[in-house]
Amino acid sequence: MASFNIYIAFGVLVIMISGAVMARDVDPIKAKNCETKMTLHCVNEVFTSIFKTGIVTDNCCIELIGLGQFCHYALIKKTLQNPLFKNNDTSVILSRAAQVWKKCTPVSEGVSPTPSP
Ligand SMILES: *[C@@H]1O[C@H](CO)[C@@H](O)[C@H](O)[C@H]1NC(C)=O
Repeated sequence: MASFNIYIAFGVLVIMISGAVMARDVDPIKAKNCETKMTLHCVNEVFTSIFKTGIVTDNCCIELIGLGQFCHYALIKKTLQNPLFKNNDTSVILSRAAQVWKKCTPVSEGVSPTPSP
């Protein structure tokens, strides 16, 4: 009876693993068309201002807000998984991403943003 239970446990494990693999295949970035909502130029600006230094122009702020917060963070998390950025501190990048988002929100609403220090 013991070997039968082990067999069952193994079967359940295999089902769980294949479920996890399938879940990973459903890329939220693809599902929400995140990669088609911004121009390459603006993707670059936002990317540079978060991972390096630079500013996001008003035009690109409007595109970013149009992209939506979900896609904004999904794309950043995906970038952080890239081995090129393995040295970057996730919490630093996420707080920069939040800053860019915060800076862009009033721009997209037509309010002039307060200059950041
Ligand atoms: C991310 O990592 C690169 C390479 O290590 C570094 O040059 C850059 O300053 C880092 N960016 C941030 C925001 O920490």
